[in-house]
Amino acid sequence: ASCGDPAVAQALASGSDADVLAAFGGAAAFRAAVAGGTAPCVDLSDSRRVWVIVDKQRPLVPIDFEPAEVTAPANMPRTVDGRLQPAASDALSALVAAAAAEGAGSIGLNSAYRSYASQTRTYNGYVESMGRDQADLQSARPGFSEHQTGLATDVAACDGGCSAIESFGGATQGAWVAANAWRFGFVVRYEDGYTPITGYEWEPWHLRYIGTDLAQVYHDGGFHTLEDFFGLPAAPTY
Ligand code: DAL
Ligand code: ZN
Repeated sequence: ASCGDPAVAQALASGSDADVLAAFGGAAAFRAAVAGGTAPCVDLSDSRRVWVIVDKQRPLVPIDFEPAEVTAPANMPRTVDGRLQPAASDALSALVAAAAAEGAGSIGLNSAYRSYASQTRTYNGYVESMGRDQADLQSARPGFSEHQTGLATDVAACDGGCSAIESFGGATQGAWVAANAWRFGFVVRYEDGYTPITGYEWEPWHLRYIGTDLAQVYHDGGFHTLEDFFGLPAAPTY
């Protein structure tokens, strides 16, 4: 299918992300069309879509975008009162339950939705403590963070009290998440070694929800960045 197909136009108008993937013939066909440049009707800057791409070259639109609904994930430890879009929230609860059931230990919520104002405080804190150049490798400027979509979360290892996110990559939970997050619709957004594409250092704790269908395609295709997944240019700097 293509953008000229009435079924695609109808699915886009319906507002249902799942319907759009189906109209293209599934998530793999959708990705191939977008990456191949043959799907101009798919707007990767539409913040209401599960496939929205936010990076240093792609700010939120509008810059102070707020998700329609965010809710607290059930049944997991937390260090903050974090909320996510409902589908991402449910998916995170399922991920946490599976990690525990499969022997990987307890995973907790460290950060989730952050408004433009909240990201401003977060980013400014980094700048104050380490200077702007280093801050830009670790924290997004306001209006450029996936956290503002309500689709991204930072998780921590919580075996008898939650550890700092910086120790997540070396924890049992971190290894399990790297191998299994895709099953629940998440990708580890900032992998080790991909700073030239993402603009950020390794963040094994930062999970981005793209839905289970797209995450399966991402996993099966061996992708490591959403930029490569959708054929977008690298975004190392603003
Ligand atoms: N730490 C990630 C890059 C953010 O601030 O969104
Ligand atoms: Zn994060």
